[in-house]
Amino acid sequence: MPETLLSVRGLKVHFPIRRGVIFDRTVGHVYAVDGVDLDVPRGGTYGLVGESGCGKSTLGRALLRLNPVTDGQVVFDGVDVAALKGETLRKARRRMQMIFQDPMSSLDPRQNVESILTEGLVAHGIGDSAAERRNRVVETLDAVGLPRWAMSRYPHEFSGGQRQRIGIARALVLGPDLIVADEPVSALDVSIQAQVINLLADLQRELGLTYLVIAHDLAVVRHISDTVGVMYLGGLVEEASSRALYAEPLHPYTRALMSAVPVPDPEVEDRRERILLRGDLPSPANPPTGCRFRTRCPWVQATRCDTERPALTEIKPGHKVACHWTKEIASGEITVNR
Ligand SMILES: Nc1ncnc2c1ncn2[C@@H]1O[C@H](COP(=O)(O)OP(=O)(O)O)[C@@H](O)[C@H]1O
Ligand SMILES: [Mg+2]
Repeated sequence: MPETLLSVRGLKVHFPIRRGVIFDRTVGHVYAVDGVDLDVPRGGTYGLVGESGCGKSTLGRALLRLNPVTDGQVVFDGVDVAALKGETLRKARRRMQMIFQDPMSSLDPRQNVESILTEGLVAHGIGDSAAERRNRVVETLDAVGLPRWAMSRYPHEFSGGQRQRIGIARALVLGPDLIVADEPVSALDVSIQAQVINLLADLQRELGLTYLVIAHDLAVVRHISDTVGVMYLGGLVEEASSRALYAEPLHPYTRALMSAVPVPDPEVEDRRERILLRGDLPSPANPPTGCRFRTRCPWVQATRCDTERPALTEIKPGHKVACHWTKEIASGEITVNR
């Protein structure tokens, strides 16, 4: 069994909703992440998918303590970083880096590439001299496929794909173990997306990196992930190996997500299951009781779905589903309800 590098238990991130002239009254909470467990082995890739607003970025940011953690544990290499403070937190952060969706807004336009990459090295006290730091920057640019002359250029002088390479280099230069990539290709042309995904895969092989890759699109994480987790309204509804999840999605939400993806083969396309979800994503400030997906689930059953929140439960080895009726839906005992 490979060693677990990242182990998340009962993670909750609740944002207070404040009102009043000086925002001194808390009138409720946004339950952005509401009880997530997940494990990522060293050198592995966990793909996290779900529609916009389900809490993916909040989860990713909480792992790096860029968001406050309301409750739960984030055990990274044996240490609960959710409980760290000050210098120990700063040291742990160097080993956990983030790549953002839009490199244009995450890179300072007034800094050239060398200064963007050197900043983190100086902040973390890496490299004994300016020359040593410069060498490290050159090596890192080389690793992400950017030429040496990129150092003196500014972010706006690059294409979208190259800018994302700068974002990757900024994370890599610090020598992290874990990289949280938050929709790393969503802002890129489809033709460039595969190049960036392939680069991430190559870097992982060469450097033994561990990834949490976030996407709203199942197709993006399919090939790069060992394990995929599907998130809905602050919680995981299904988790399986990439292969098992795509071959046999079990949760109604995962099935609906998959059914929305057209298949190139016209014959397969004709037979494709189409599940239309009713209504909109409920507000994470006022999530449904019981199963959070019940207001949109075609198989919803009274009254258990209204009252009891289903736990993420192992149905087959390595395949977990949070639904009261997985077996009954699979066997046809329960058919589409509304
Ligand atoms: N700093 C914040 N303060 C209050 N609410 C937030 C904050 N960040 C995110 N949210 C809310 O948390 C929910 C989840 O957001 P997010 O994690 O960005 O979702 P995703 O990345 O899946 O699109 C959304 O309803 C969002 O509005
Ligand atoms: Mg997001």
